[in-house]
Amino acid sequence: MNFKKEFETHLTNFSDNYPEIKRAFEKSKMHNPTMNLTYWHSHIYMLNKMEIEEWSKDTSILDLGCQMAILPHYFKEIGFTDVSATNSKNEAGNTLEDLEHVWSCMNMNVEHLHILPEEEFTLDKKYDIILATQSNVHWNSKKLLVIHDGKLYHDYYVMDKNNKSHTFFVPYNVSELKFLIENIKKYLTPTGKALIYAHPFPYWDDRFKEELDFLQEHTEVGYTDSGAPLFQHSYFIIKGDK
Ligand SMILES: C[S@@+](CC[C@H](N)C(=O)[O-])C[C@H]1O[C@@H](n2cnc3c(N)ncnc32)[C@H](O)[C@@H]1O
Repeated sequence: MNFKKEFETHLTNFSDNYPEIKRAFEKSKMHNPTMNLTYWHSHIYMLNKMEIEEWSKDTSILDLGCQMAILPHYFKEIGFTDVSATNSKNEAGNTLEDLEHVWSCMNMNVEHLHILPEEEFTLDKKYDIILATQSNVHWNSKKLLVIHDGKLYHDYYVMDKNNKSHTFFVPYNVSELKFLIENIKKYLTPTGKALIYAHPFPYWDDRFKEELDFLQEHTEVGYTDSGAPLFQHSYFIIKGDK
């Protein structure tokens, strides 16, 4: 199996092979996923790093935060028999219907999961592979406040006069990262691995040195070698407890 080549072919031929799903994508203004291969380069790099070509077809895989479910749908299409997926209803808001329509066209059963800082979450079982790609599970927006016209708001993004959005977040600190890593480990098989492709990855910034040191000690931190900004292409891999 040449994962890169085969997945790229899948994306390139997606509209021809899955016209109904493609129409369902197009109904969503918010989430219509890109088939642009550049977007998927980092995913491919990281999955190769996790030795995807060695995974047996009964590997249990969870895509945590699947949105339009491109990856879990592909895994099922190529014969993986134990593929699960989650998405956050809170985050989807009024776009949930669009997502549900796509998942039904794909025949994907997607569970709701919204992870909060230092709040225990449960999964149905242990997995060999957990993927959280282009993920914002490391955002702590709980204590983020906006002051506008003398009033306090909890909004975490604003649209400017040019209709461009500006999003604000506080990245998980050491204690929150530790909690997240331990929580995920509970749901990894002893040889299991979880890929957190945190987007954006804030920890290269000097202000987050303590967090980066912690991640480097407890996980495998890496980035793809595409020459693009580090925050766009960094990830960490959590390993199961043997
Ligand atoms: C940008 S999408 C990524 C979609 C896809 N994984 C990819 O690589 O293109 C982010 C995903 O993370 C999920 N998500 C966002 N915040 C979350 C949270 N606090 N807990 C769990 N999932 C969350 C969203 O529901 C969504 O599925």
